[in-house]
Amino acid sequence: MPSTGPAILPQHVAIIMDGNGRWAKQRGLPRLEGHRRGVETVRTVVDAARAIGIRYITLYAFSVENWSRPSDEVSGLMGLLDFFLKRELSNLIKNRVRLRTIGRTGELPANVQRELARVIEATKDFPDWNLVLALNYGSRTEVADAARAYAVAVANGKEKLEDNSWETFSRYLDTADLPEPDLLIRTSGEHRVSNFMLLQCAYSEMVFTPTLWPDFGQADLQSAVDEYGRRERRYGLTTEQIKAGAK
Ligand code: IPE
Ligand code: IPE
Ligand code: MG
Repeated sequence: MPSTGPAILPQHVAIIMDGNGRWAKQRGLPRLEGHRRGVETVRTVVDAARAIGIRYITLYAFSVENWSRPSDEVSGLMGLLDFFLKRELSNLIKNRVRLRTIGRTGELPANVQRELARVIEATKDFPDWNLVLALNYGSRTEVADAARAYAVAVANGKEKLEDNSWETFSRYLDTADLPEPDLLIRTSGEHRVSNFMLLQCAYSEMVFTPTLWPDFGQADLQSAVDEYGRRERRYGLTTEQIKAGAK
């Protein structure tokens, strides 16, 4: 179990980046313009996270369900992803940030897969800072994939059926090598998790902000982290137990 007691600095912050479309609509611009501005926010927030000392930042960039959007929006988003990966490579290397992904990336367009592989390979040895992109991600598909892989491992004798613990099963999730998010932020005023890290966020603190993603900045991240610092994480225990344990 992660440590209880007053939360200080989150090690892992996950963000549901939402509101690009509304940001554009408010300005009479095409939705894709909102996504373009959203890409700029990604750089700002990754830099801000490092400055604050957050070691893992996970960004929900494209959900399994997002394929059902209009095809020009989907192809625009894939184009922006390709652009982002090409542009950010040198910056990630300079700042020693490791890129990782969660989600069914094997279903992304071939050019995006190539760029991803290139950036992941070039940054794989950086130990301190991690940017995790959730791409073609959905918790339900992730769990279905993990259940299948786990069943194969049991059939092969690699896992024992009796050892049906969360610790064992969670090693089959896309997030196997990542700590659980301490803090989950969603922008744009929506109060839902939209199929994002449903199991990994079992005990995450959640902060919802009305700010649209293109307007989100360092101060907004800092204020979510400050809010996190005011929370008490109890993991099912009582405040008294937490206080006694902290002594
Ligand atoms: C988030 O912004 C980006 C993605 C889901 C790819 P939206 O495009 O969902 O923006 P809204 O919710 O329509 O404002
Ligand atoms: C969640 O946002 C997915 C991403 C941020 C990539 P959506 O805008 O797709 O979620 P819903 O449809 O409002 O739940
Ligand atoms: Mg949205």
